[in-house]
Amino acid sequence: MVMAAFSSARIPPVYFGAGRLAELPRIASAFGKEILLITGATSLAAGGRLERVLASLREAGLRPHRIIIDAEPSTAFIDETCAALRSRAFQVVIGIGGGSVIDGAKAISAMLPHSNSVLDHLEDVGRNVPHSGKKIPYVAVPTTSGTGGEMTKNAVLSMVGPEGYKKSLRHDNLIPDAVIVDPELMTTCPPHITAACGMDAFTQLLEPYLSPIASPLTDALAWSGLQQARENLVPACTDRGADIGIRAGLAYASMLSGVALANAGLGIVHGLASPIGGFFPIPHGVVCGTLVASATEANIAALRRRRENPAALAKYAKVGVLFGGAPENGEAWNCDYLVERLQAWTDTLGLARLSSYGIGAGDFDRIIAKTSNRHNPVNLEPDDLRALLARRL
Ligand SMILES: [Fe+2]
Repeated sequence: MVMAAFSSARIPPVYFGAGRLAELPRIASAFGKEILLITGATSLAAGGRLERVLASLREAGLRPHRIIIDAEPSTAFIDETCAALRSRAFQVVIGIGGGSVIDGAKAISAMLPHSNSVLDHLEDVGRNVPHSGKKIPYVAVPTTSGTGGEMTKNAVLSMVGPEGYKKSLRHDNLIPDAVIVDPELMTTCPPHITAACGMDAFTQLLEPYLSPIASPLTDALAWSGLQQARENLVPACTDRGADIGIRAGLAYASMLSGVALANAGLGIVHGLASPIGGFFPIPHGVVCGTLVASATEANIAALRRRRENPAALAKYAKVGVLFGGAPENGEAWNCDYLVERLQAWTDTLGLARLSSYGIGAGDFDRIIAKTSNRHNPVNLEPDDLRALLARRL
């Protein structure tokens, strides 16, 4: 078999393992002493961790100035924050938090050296002016196993409302300059957030694995992440959330999900999550988690009906076997088994239904009008999408 051509994005230097947050002063000091430290409102404060981080930075001779991101970042927030801080000549941005902090800090590091609005560079909704790539160095420290944004070149910004959107600022240079993945930071993440973020990471492994532009490299990374997600996601959300080994496995899965999506793209769950998250105040992880079983069912049904892309069905069956299926029962059985297992995960993890965020059947058409099938293994028609959504109302 001749291996097809593929390209790969840069992977940032990663410092992975329990306790490695202690290396932050050394890693950050390589870029300078004037630090913009961006955290969530509460996650780092637990157990005095924030005070220890600030003290360790100061002991190393660094000068941290802290700000908070407590919601999914909007373009207005990025513009206002950069306008207020631009004169301070920060040399490095450190983002410690969940996906909103990781992406928000990435956008701030990208816009601090520039005086224009970030909206100018936002895909589709802005003026589509390419970002120059000039930015402040950025060290990313995720505290949830979620978006994998610490590994990617894009920052998702949103505006929620009738004209809402979730769109990306992107440039190759926006890939963080260093990443610390310390599972100790994740042990205090509550079960419902662990579940939503973990299901986002799982979806970001499954969708690249099934993507038409997947490569042997992305398949290997996605598979390695899927193995860890399968093993650790449910225990992390139920009785073993304080177990470092469980949290490390899920953190690894999340990190690889960022690499997989950056190189192989995403499917219909994220195609739907983008407009749904723009129109309604539903967290990204919740919308992905609540839709992934239903979307997998829709994809498998459409692939069978149209008798196209047999490689995709074979891959779904392989994931079914990973979930405890039986290879001897054949491809169709293992595909059905995968859907069954994902539905069981959805129930076990208590993922909220779309209707609990105010979404009704009357909203389907405007959601579907803005939904992309890009990099989905099969092109789902509007009727397929309506049925997919209706199962999770
Ligand atoms: Fe995602």
